[in-house]
Amino acid sequence: MLARAMCGIVGYVGTREATPILLAGLRRLEYRGYDSAGIAVCNGEQAHLVRCQGKLAALEKLLAEKSPVGAYGIGHTRWATHGRPSDENAHPHKAGPISVVHNGIVENHVELRERLIASGRVFSSQTDTEVLAHLIDEALQAGAASLVEAVRAALRQVTGAYAIAVLSDRSPNVLVAAKNASPLVLGLGKGEMFIASDAPAILEQTRDMLFLEDGDIAELDHSGARITDLDGNPVVRKPRTVTWTAGQAEKAGYPHFMLKEIHEQPRAVTDTLAGRLLPDSNDAVLEDQEVTPLPSRVVILACGTSYHAGLVGKFLIENIARIPCEVDLASEFRYREPVVGSRDLVVGISQSGETADTLAAVKEARARGARTFAICNVVDSAIPRASDLVLYTRAGPEIGVASTKCFTAQLAALTLLAIHLGRRNGALAGVAATELVAELMQIPHKMSETLKETGDLKALARKYQNVRDFLFLGRGPNYPIALEGALKLKEISYIHAEGYAAGEMKHGPIALIGDGLPVVIIATRGKGYDKVLSNLAEVRAREGQVIAVATKGDTAILDQCEDVLWVPDAPPLLQPMLTVLPLQLLAYAVALARGNDVDQPRNLAKSVTVE
Ligand code: M6R
Repeated sequence: MLARAMCGIVGYVGTREATPILLAGLRRLEYRGYDSAGIAVCNGEQAHLVRCQGKLAALEKLLAEKSPVGAYGIGHTRWATHGRPSDENAHPHKAGPISVVHNGIVENHVELRERLIASGRVFSSQTDTEVLAHLIDEALQAGAASLVEAVRAALRQVTGAYAIAVLSDRSPNVLVAAKNASPLVLGLGKGEMFIASDAPAILEQTRDMLFLEDGDIAELDHSGARITDLDGNPVVRKPRTVTWTAGQAEKAGYPHFMLKEIHEQPRAVTDTLAGRLLPDSNDAVLEDQEVTPLPSRVVILACGTSYHAGLVGKFLIENIARIPCEVDLASEFRYREPVVGSRDLVVGISQSGETADTLAAVKEARARGARTFAICNVVDSAIPRASDLVLYTRAGPEIGVASTKCFTAQLAALTLLAIHLGRRNGALAGVAATELVAELMQIPHKMSETLKETGDLKALARKYQNVRDFLFLGRGPNYPIALEGALKLKEISYIHAEGYAAGEMKHGPIALIGDGLPVVIIATRGKGYDKVLSNLAEVRAREGQVIAVATKGDTAILDQCEDVLWVPDAPPLLQPMLTVLPLQLLAYAVALARGNDVDQPRNLAKSVTVE
């Protein structure tokens, strides 16, 4: 499983003042989350918590007024998943003497919370993390012999992803750290120890690091760490000396955020599905929300890459739920006297949640009586706030201007919505439901396989880096992927690129083909495959150079194209989460070959908050 990238964690135990060390670490981790931050520092008596909503600067301001004193502590910078950004939802979370910071998702937090409340415990936040603090405190009260023993007892009840750092007012100068599917590293100092979500947070302190593995629990004091598994068996992990610069480490060793984010996609999709896709009942839940009454039509509104996700959403919703679905550019919808009303579900899709056109379009639809549903990556941003219902993608902060991991996470969220609607109106049932859910569960793994197999595409990029134009063709659910492939290429390589429905080629764009024009054709197996092969032959006959995205094992395609990018077999509706990956890598490689600034391409901004 790949590293998760939501929230940043730090910890310190030693002989120096913990607060400045934690703050320095959090500054390095702010790229992992920035909607709230906090620290808990202990002087051996009682942990002092300082936490607040907003960027780290807000916490720094509070600490400048009064800085907690103590030689051990933990800190956190948050990217909200459960519970909106607020002072109460900021970490650390406390229960009795226990303070916890957490990165990840406790999937069974609802049941655990209900049980803990029934046993008399009172919660003060909406987070899944507070459940962990209570479970650890409960284990101590039930007689756990030590803090580490209590953490083990708590984690045995938890399913999901976590990297945690824990301290107790009653265990002076001890920290406990544990990891499952979220990254966690220990820094080995001289007479002091550090914990961090990733190396850059503590590089200034030490280069000797010990990377924890899934299932590890570490008990730390100033002299070192004892690592065990969940059952208390000792585990040996070899320390290593990290040679990265802090900048390299922030990108987890990748040269650009975009490349890092491309590789985070299997994780982003896994997290977006987690706890929502229910394989036991072949259903999808939208976090205590029901789309009732069921809409007679779905209208999707979005811009740019999110609009392309919406176009795939049309296929998903119409095929799976058999509900008519329209997709509109938000900038067009808002000025068009649109016909929407109370029987429509209007879905606004946005990575940032702040795109001015999408926000205005959603408000317009709501004013006309439609029920509004946001699919968004930034918790509590403007579009979710303006909507009746919301489903958050859990991609973590996306820094590269070219959207990648948020796109595939949006596709996962739209698939959940389609399954949810289809199960409720009966359009999705029986074997079809079982097969779809089983196939969807396979997608993150197939995404990892695709990324691995595609590799860096440097050679392909060298071949095409100096062309003037590119054409991208696809059919059905892969038509939006042709549009997205073209958008990715033009926004970072500055090469003119057009995306077209393959069937439209003969109605105009065929005139462009000749002189070696590169044509990327998504020619995966499934409905329409034979027709795409005919398009491919038409391009070849006119001296176009074909780069095919094809299904692994389809050797027949090899002698019909210049280059092939392989993806594993998948049902057509789920293919977009795979076929887009080589196109993102192609855009990245060509932009790099042309010497462009991949993460901050010219003239573009990450959030478009103007019309
Ligand atoms: O934050 P949003 O998803 O609402 O942003 C919409 C577009 O501005 C965005 O997708 C843009 O097209 C990206 N640069 C594409 O990579």
